Amino acid sequence: MSDRATTGLTRRVAVVTGAADGLGREFAAALAAEGALVAGIDVADQSATAERIGGAFLPLTADVSDPAQVTAAMAEVADRFGGLHVVVNNAGVYPPIPFEQTTPDDLRRMLRINVEGPFYVSQAAVPYLRAAGWGRIVNIASAAVFVGPPDLVAYTTSKAAIIGLTRSLATLLGGDGITVNTIAPGLTRTATAERSTGADGGFARVRATQRIPRTGEPADLISTLLYVCDPGSGFLTGQTLNIDGGSALH
Ligand SMILES: NC(=O)c1ccc[n+]([C@@H]2O[C@H](COP(=O)([O-])OP(=O)(O)OC[C@H]3O[C@@H](n4cnc5c(N)ncnc54)[C@H](O)[C@@H]3O)[C@@H](O)[C@H]2O)c1
Repeated sequence: MSDRATTGLTRRVAVVTGAADGLGREFAAALAAEGALVAGIDVADQSATAERIGGAFLPLTADVSDPAQVTAAMAEVADRFGGLHVVVNNAGVYPPIPFEQTTPDDLRRMLRINVEGPFYVSQAAVPYLRAAGWGRIVNIASAAVFVGPPDLVAYTTSKAAIIGLTRSLATLLGGDGITVNTIAPGLTRTATAERSTGADGGFARVRATQRIPRTGEPADLISTLLYVCDPGSGFLTGQTLNIDGGSALH
């Protein structure tokens, strides 16, 4: 057991959406390394994550934008692990689509997954968090909200909503021992980020805007995730923490 396993997440139950790949897999592994029991919710196969984490990981297939699937998945987590304490709303999509060419279907898909998803997941989770009398909801937005990249108008629109969701939920749940915060990563190296923004020099362009002149890695986000989830962070709520090498100052 690592030293960190004494920090208070041992045997807490965590759900990470979008845990099949990228940041979600790293978040799930980091929480499991703290001693948490972790369930992943994804539409994609999560066997690589399950292999990495081992027995403390429960992979569930569900579409976060489908409330019925989400409700069933949450019930299964609570049933299998005996409750629920931490929710990381990470599943999201960010295809770069020029503003002029964005169709209603493109926009609706982005809003469905990036906004409705965290809304339904939080809605399904809250009764279990309230029953536990303790909870952490961590929403993954994007530093794009503060930078306003011209090639990500629909995406930035969707991620801005996450900050509103965070603030209202923080107010709603503050009296229940539940904190709600947002992490806003800058461009971070994942396979999807490489595919959607890396090909045309996106990493170099973003690096040039940062105070810390290197590409963000998933590992750069982990200490903030654990800080927000830590039992000692119970007075931190409704906040947005920007982890982007200092490209946006706010
Ligand atoms: N990587 C970056 O540069 C970066 C920067 C800022 C914010 N983010 C945000 O971080 C999150 C993860 O990004 P990533 O780079 O790891 O992407 P990723 O594509 O590697 O992972 C996203 C995961 O979400 C899953 N997913 C997609 N739609 C889903 C749905 N409807 N239901 C359930 N699961 C679904 C995918 O299958 C995938 O496993 C996203 O919300 C993204 O917007 C990423």
